[in-house]
Amino acid sequence: MAIETEPDLATDGPGPATTPVGFDPAVVRRDFPILQQEINGHPLVYLDSASSSQKPTAVLEAMDTYYRQYNANVHRGIYTIGEKATAEYEQARAKTARFINAPDAHEIVFTRNATEAINLVAYSWGRTNINRGDAVVLTEMEHHANLVPWQLLVQERDGDLEFIPITDDGVLRLDVFEVLLKLKPKLVAFTHVSNTLGTINPVREMVEMAHAVGALVLVDGAQAVPHVPVDVQGLGADFYAFSGHKMLAPMGSGALWARRELLEAMPPFLAGGEMIREVHLRRSDFNDIPWKFEAGTPAVGDAIGLGVAAEYLGAIGMSNVREHERDLVTYALEQLPARVPGIELYGPLDPELRGGVVPFNLPGIHPHDVAQVLDRFGIAVRAGHHCTMPLHERLDLAATARASFQVYSTRGDIDALCAGLVEVQRVFGG
Ligand SMILES: Cc1ncc(COP(=O)(O)O)c(C=O)c1O
Repeated sequence: MAIETEPDLATDGPGPATTPVGFDPAVVRRDFPILQQEINGHPLVYLDSASSSQKPTAVLEAMDTYYRQYNANVHRGIYTIGEKATAEYEQARAKTARFINAPDAHEIVFTRNATEAINLVAYSWGRTNINRGDAVVLTEMEHHANLVPWQLLVQERDGDLEFIPITDDGVLRLDVFEVLLKLKPKLVAFTHVSNTLGTINPVREMVEMAHAVGALVLVDGAQAVPHVPVDVQGLGADFYAFSGHKMLAPMGSGALWARRELLEAMPPFLAGGEMIREVHLRRSDFNDIPWKFEAGTPAVGDAIGLGVAAEYLGAIGMSNVREHERDLVTYALEQLPARVPGIELYGPLDPELRGGVVPFNLPGIHPHDVAQVLDRFGIAVRAGHHCTMPLHERLDLAATARASFQVYSTRGDIDALCAGLVEVQRVFGG
C-alpha cells in the first residue's frame, strides 16, 4: 500500500495532474487484484463503488488466513483455534470502533449490512418507543434501506412519517426541518451522504436541532464511513449504521453503533443462541451488549475482514480519502460537461457539499443503454433508481446513470468515462 507518497497521476490519463491528496491512488490500485484485469478487451474501469467497493489483498488474505488456519465458532471453543477466532473477532470490533471513534467497542453491534443495522433499530427501539401519533422524520433523499423499515414501523404502530424536502440541486431544506421539529418527533433518521446525489448532509447541525426538541437521531452512514472521516462522538448522533462491503470489506459485514444506554435499554432483535446468558423452558436472560444483538453464529471471517479494511483505510487516512474524492468530483464536474455534449448532471455543484458520486443522463438515451454500451469498453457504472425511487420521483427522473469513486479511482477513470460516453452517443446516433 502506498501511503503519504507524492501523487503521480501523469501516467494515468490525459487529464491535468491532480492536487496532492497524501497518497497515490495509482499505486493503491495495485493492492486491488480485481482491477488488474481486462473486460471486453479493455482495462476494467470500475466506477460503481457506491454500490459495492473492491477489496484489497490485505482483506482477502485476512479472510483466507481465517478459513485456512483458525476457522472455528466464536465464544464457544475451549481450544486453541476457537480462542484465536474469538480474539480476532473481538479485535475486529475494537478496530471498527476506533475507525469511527466510538468510545467503547461494546457499542458496536456487528450486522450483515447497513440495512440490517437500521432494521435492528426499527424493530427493537422502534417497536418499544413509537406509539400512536408519534412522528418519525426522514428526508426525500433516503435510500430505501432508511425508508421502508420506518414505513413498516409507523404502519404497525399507527405513527406518522414526515419528510425533509430537498432543493432542486439536492440539498436538504433545513428551514422546513425546523418547522417539522415542531411536531416533536421521537426520531429523525437521515443519510450522512446521499448515495444518488452525493450530497454531504450537515449531520452535527441537524443532530443539535433534533436533540433540542428531544428527538433521537439515526444516521445512515453507508456512504459516509467509506469516504469521509466519521467521528460518532463528534457528530453526536444516537445511532449510526454502515455496511462493510462499501468500505473495502467483505459482503456480509457491517455494523450498528449506538450509545451504550440505548443498546442496554433495547430489547433483543433476533433471538437464539449467542444472545442469551441463561435459558429456561419458559424464559431466558439475555447476554450483555453487544452480543445481545448478535443471535446465532456470526460471520466471523467477514468481521475480521471488516477490521482489516478499517485499518487499511485508516492507514491511508480518511481526510486523504476525502481529499482524493473531492478532487475526482471536481474533475468529473468540469470534464463531463466539457467533453460530453448535452450531458445532464445532478446534485450539488459545490464539491465541498458532495461525496464521490456523480449521477448523470444523456438526453434521449436510457441509462441502462448507457451502462450497457460503456460495459463494452470495460467501464462499469450503475444505472437505474439506485434504491432511491422517491428521490427520482422528486427530481422527475425515471432513472439515472451514476459514476462513483473510491481510493483506487483515478482521473484516468474519468477520462475513460468521458471517452466512453462520447462512444455511447455515437452508437445512438448523437
Ligand atoms: C445511503 C445508503 N444507505 C443504505 C444502503 C444499504 O446498504 P446495504 O445494501 O449494504 O445494506 C445503501 C446501499 O447502497 C446506501 O447507499
